[in-house]
Amino acid sequence: AKGLLLMPGCIDTHVHLREPGFTHKEDMFTGSLAAAAGGITTVFDMPNTKPSTTTITALANKRKLAKKMIVNHGFYFGATKSAEGISEIKEAKNVPGTKVFMNITTGKMIIEDEKFLHKIFEASRQVSVHAEQEQVKHAIQLASLARKKLYCSQISTQKEVDYITFAKSAGTEVCCEVTPHHLFCSKSGKKDAFLSMKPELRTKKDKSSLWKAINDGIVDTIGTDHAPHTTVEKKSNNPPYGVPGLETSLPLMLTAVRDGKLSYQQVIKLMCNNPAKIFGIKSRSIQKSQRLFEHGSVL
Ligand code: DOR
Ligand code: ZN
Repeated sequence: AKGLLLMPGCIDTHVHLREPGFTHKEDMFTGSLAAAAGGITTVFDMPNTKPSTTTITALANKRKLAKKMIVNHGFYFGATKSAEGISEIKEAKNVPGTKVFMNITTGKMIIEDEKFLHKIFEASRQVSVHAEQEQVKHAIQLASLARKKLYCSQISTQKEVDYITFAKSAGTEVCCEVTPHHLFCSKSGKKDAFLSMKPELRTKKDKSSLWKAINDGIVDTIGTDHAPHTTVEKKSNNPPYGVPGLETSLPLMLTAVRDGKLSYQQVIKLMCNNPAKIFGIKSRSIQKSQRLFEHGSVL
């Protein structure tokens, strides 16, 4: 291996696999092939499938479907605005956490009701949020009130970096993730469905603030927000949000190392060590008998 780089497999904390419900886009097997091809050996799947992962039954079904996956996996539990949903959150074990969509995106899982947001944070062990701009501040307040660990998925602007920097300096247990597309692309002014995702591409200034936040140690992880759609869907009159990312995130980050934007050690921290620490990954053996996370048991 002289002259080569040896590193652990990457953990992608933010992946929208399309099974069940949307296997014309991708299924758990093909999604896991894309992950392996990209050097990602563990994925955390998001709950906006059909059915959504908002019940223990749907979670158990995903685990059955996942037998065909060739990489390690954890399934996020999705929050809903119902009393049953809250009690299901309390029962969900061996998951990376509860996923709360505070903004619109594919799947209509947005939660705006303040009362329910409080209940969801109270019921959860750890929460990951899709929050944009002021919503990041709101999520930090909700997590502080409920005394729960907060993971801000896909932060994309200078303002969001500022909220997180402030919360971290105040000792709040908050972590954040950035996507490769927000690190490598910025908005061009032209409408292009193939470059449309949530959060949308931001300004060049926002993009540089994310690189600065990486080098200041504010950003904890790189997550792809892998969200594939078909070409036909993207070319339609109402194109869905999302771009794929599993195969390209590590090559892009290694290209950034070559270009002097960060070090190999930082890439390993962002894509391997930090996700394992933040989510309490116990063992990455794929053996059926073993659970992925330190807490809870296999359902
Ligand atoms: O662009 C996005 N697409 N952002 C998300 O958060 C969801 C995703 C999807 O599932 O298509
Ligand atoms: Zn997402």
